[in-house]
Amino acid sequence: MEKKNLDWSNIGFGYVQTDKRYVSNFKDGAWDEGGLTDDANVVLNECAGVLQYAQTVFEGMKAYTTEQGKTVIFRPDLNAERMVQSAKRLEMPVFPEDRFVDAVVQTVKANEAYVPPYGTGATLYIRPYMFGTNPVIGVKPADEYQFRVFGTPVGPYFKGGVKPLTIKVSDFDRAAPHGSGHIKAGLNYAMSMHAIVTAHQEGFDENLYLDAATRTNVEETGGANFLFVTKDGKLVTPKSNSILPSITRRSLVYVAKEYLGMEVEERTVPFAEVKEFAECGLCGTAAVISPVGKIVDHGNEICFSSGMTDMGPVTKKLYDTLTGIQMGRIEAPKGWIKVV
Ligand code: PLP
Ligand code: COI
Repeated sequence: MEKKNLDWSNIGFGYVQTDKRYVSNFKDGAWDEGGLTDDANVVLNECAGVLQYAQTVFEGMKAYTTEQGKTVIFRPDLNAERMVQSAKRLEMPVFPEDRFVDAVVQTVKANEAYVPPYGTGATLYIRPYMFGTNPVIGVKPADEYQFRVFGTPVGPYFKGGVKPLTIKVSDFDRAAPHGSGHIKAGLNYAMSMHAIVTAHQEGFDENLYLDAATRTNVEETGGANFLFVTKDGKLVTPKSNSILPSITRRSLVYVAKEYLGMEVEERTVPFAEVKEFAECGLCGTAAVISPVGKIVDHGNEICFSSGMTDMGPVTKKLYDTLTGIQMGRIEAPKGWIKVV
């Protein structure tokens, strides 16, 4: 496969239009057969449900070129399953999980020239999404929907690559108890725009959101879950009904236990405990594992002993093992790698 002539090692996290995308439409209670198209634009009625009441959900995953030169996708079945949960919560029709995986495979295959070569540090980010298309003016679910998948080659999500991040404890809440924080809906990200712009203006890389009910426990950031490492080498990660169930985090919990023999605690993490941890990181498809050097709570700084120049040693071990599995250097657990 001849690759596109892109400066793979220097691409950022942005949109690059690729050749083909997948589209399927839902009408009269059923999905059509769907297929690939060249048309990157969507034309909608002015009153479409997605435009008026934000009825849209999405997913994010990546395709890689392995050391062996194969194109693979990491655990797309879990993204398919999560999109079902997201759709149900917004009263949208479910896109069948097997069709979701097939649509992702078709999209990656059709854009294989954009899957970055092995060793460049870049990947093909895949964005499946679904939205209400017919006119809706009373507050109710749309009757018609479109499901799409496109890919875009990306580099590191955070500028500076693996340089440890500085995080602000946000004054804003991301998600309410019993709200929509556990699903991947555009509305959660719309809610975070003001908070992220504010954090960036103040010189921070991201926000740490506390639980909205008590403002005492760590939830997540705008686009990733938290990982902490205790001084005695345990992995601790927040458990909450209002954070996104990160596929990267679930994979890392398994890797930590089964590959690295670590003890893992998935539990409520009081913010007051954070200063006791040795290492901190963010995990997600886009973030992979991004180390956190410092968390600032209204002027009070928590500086992790891993410092502001490198990833901490345990974070690095987790990073190397996960990316090793994704890139074919380390044998993957059964079912984790979908070959395109
Ligand atoms: N939390 C939020 C709010 C996210 O947007 C993401 C990204 O998908 C994650 C966590 C990480 O989830 P995953 O590892 O499934 O990409
Ligand atoms: C992802 O990691 O896939 C996300 O959707 C996070 C987003 C902030 C890019």
